[in-house]
Amino acid sequence: MRHQGFLLKPLLGMPDKDRTIKDFGKQWLRYPDNEGYYGSLELFSNIISPFLRTDDIKDCRVAEIGSGTGRIVNMLLDSGVQHIVAVEPSDSFAVLVRNIQNSGKVTCLNITGDRLPAYGNLDYIFSIGVLHHITDPKPVVEAAFKALRPGGHFWVWLYGKEGNESYLALIKPLRILTRKLPHLVLASLVWLIYHPLNLYIRLCHRFPLPLREYLFSIFAKMSPEKRKLIIYDQLNPAYAKYYTKKEAIKLLEDGGFVNVRIHHRHGYSWTVIGTKPDPSNEPKRN
Ligand SMILES: C[S@@+](CC[C@H](N)C(=O)[O-])C[C@H]1O[C@@H](n2cnc3c(N)ncnc32)[C@H](O)[C@@H]1O
Repeated sequence: MRHQGFLLKPLLGMPDKDRTIKDFGKQWLRYPDNEGYYGSLELFSNIISPFLRTDDIKDCRVAEIGSGTGRIVNMLLDSGVQHIVAVEPSDSFAVLVRNIQNSGKVTCLNITGDRLPAYGNLDYIFSIGVLHHITDPKPVVEAAFKALRPGGHFWVWLYGKEGNESYLALIKPLRILTRKLPHLVLASLVWLIYHPLNLYIRLCHRFPLPLREYLFSIFAKMSPEKRKLIIYDQLNPAYAKYYTKKEAIKLLEDGGFVNVRIHHRHGYSWTVIGTKPDPSNEPKRN
């Protein structure tokens, strides 16, 4: 048992929901910066398309659930939002507060998403790469519903199942081990994967290999450090669910959202947006 901290994370036995938050806390304390394309408005425009443009959220009141190091918070600020509520439950809360560029426009809350206050006046809530790491996301979706104004929108990005079949055949068995590895061992494994992956990207130029679209449009634009972080981020979290299209739509519809629209982003993930019903817009019955 004394060697558990070296060979395996000393968190085994903890429920997945708590472990995920602990894992992310440590991850962001180790990788706190948002440099280059990884933290850019160019990437944000790509993430929120095709349903939104940065102009659409100008002067809006927004929240982000699961803010990590604050990279999306800063992208939202660069897009000109009026005010942001940034929710981050992990120990990386300190990193989030430190990284925020305009703290006068941001309220940071060190809570889980299900405890987001029911403001009832937000125009948009974003949750990017978060709900697929939560074992029971329903209370988070319900909290988002209550925090939005009628007619407000919940915008979610999730890992997808469709389009990821070959990747999942590889990553799922690998993650059984890697999610238990302590930082130094995992970081060494990432280093070992990094070079063959760069070779794979070169092969994608010649052959239509799996994940080609994502690797070209996003991954290849990242710095070497951020490429390594993305690999680490795939292997580290205790819990990760890959959503089917049907499950992704149901997640928002079950929370009361209407007009749920979905986009298969770069062939490997889901962008989902739903609207909180606005009774004042419903046609009146005679
Ligand atoms: C992959 S990171 C995404 C961070 C950020 N949205 C981004 O794209 O840079 C997922 C984040 O969700 C947070 N998280 C995990 N469980 C959560 C929960 N129940 N409520 C809110 N956030 C949670 C983690 O601590 C982590 O910072």
